[in-house]
Amino acid sequence: MKAKIFVARAIFPEVLERLAQHFDVESNQEDRIYGADELRQKAQGKDGLFTTPSEPVNAALFAANPQLKAVCNMAVGYNNIDVAAATAAGVMATNTPEVLNETTADFAWALMMATARRITESEHWLRAGHWKKWSYDSFTGPDVHGATLGIIGMGRIGQAIARRSMGFDMNVIYHNRSQLKPELEARANNAKYVGKEELLRQADHVVLVLPYSKESHHTIAAAELALMKPTATLTNIARGGIVDDAALIQTLRTGGIAAAGLDVFENEPAFNPEFLKLSNVVLTPHIASASTPTRLAMANCAADNLIAALAGQTPPNLLNPDVARKG
Ligand code: GLV
Ligand code: GLV
Repeated sequence: MKAKIFVARAIFPEVLERLAQHFDVESNQEDRIYGADELRQKAQGKDGLFTTPSEPVNAALFAANPQLKAVCNMAVGYNNIDVAAATAAGVMATNTPEVLNETTADFAWALMMATARRITESEHWLRAGHWKKWSYDSFTGPDVHGATLGIIGMGRIGQAIARRSMGFDMNVIYHNRSQLKPELEARANNAKYVGKEELLRQADHVVLVLPYSKESHHTIAAAELALMKPTATLTNIARGGIVDDAALIQTLRTGGIAAAGLDVFENEPAFNPEFLKLSNVVLTPHIASASTPTRLAMANCAADNLIAALAGQTPPNLLNPDVARKG
């Protein structure tokens, strides 16, 4: 008998077909977002779940579904899953690291450049019919080349962002839970490890790439924003909640920093509407990994994990190796 899985969101048809070769698949192709209660019910009788960051996977779900063996998230971030509860319940949890590193680093650059060079703001102005004459000071902003890039969260994505700065002759500083090995710092454009406050004081462009957790909640709040240069930009491609959005709105409004580029928001997709009133912020709908090949690779990676886990193997991207396996 095939194992039973629930695919919590619409995904690529070819990946769904691949899963159907291995499993008895129930899937949410109408793509309505399920909350915790509905997902708990959908998990009934299932051996595995294919989830995305939109679905909360919590202790109550595990308690109500003792047959569940694996939850495979199609994302590198997994703060939607209570991994400690999964481990306690004997459920394997997986994510999709590596496959999105370069695409996500590309996007961090696109967003940082658009923010510094006011690309979306000036395009909106042009589309609105305001372009009547050239002016020496229209849409001027800070330079990117030759500037100091400050990266908070120096995992693989952070390092890929740093490597890209070589062509822009940038000086790279970073803050992380731990300092990188010297050879990795060298590959990351000779990135220099500094304290968070020093980074915020020195950087011309701050990029956030750290995972969300209780500890990283509001890593950037009013006190941190106050340390930044008034000419600096802040780019967040990590997770909503790492930045205190209300504090950022206040800082952008009063010119405390030059501009922000945000791909993620507190309470997204219901983000703070005050952002829409500001011209010095570039807003994108959580798309940093959204190249077509990378999203397909992420879906296949999540499928690989599910297939391995339910075949009794160790899935390639197991987040809780201490989990006691179910038979
Ligand atoms: C996207 O945000 C991811 O975590 O992969
Ligand atoms: C975080 O997702 C990282 O790899 O830096």
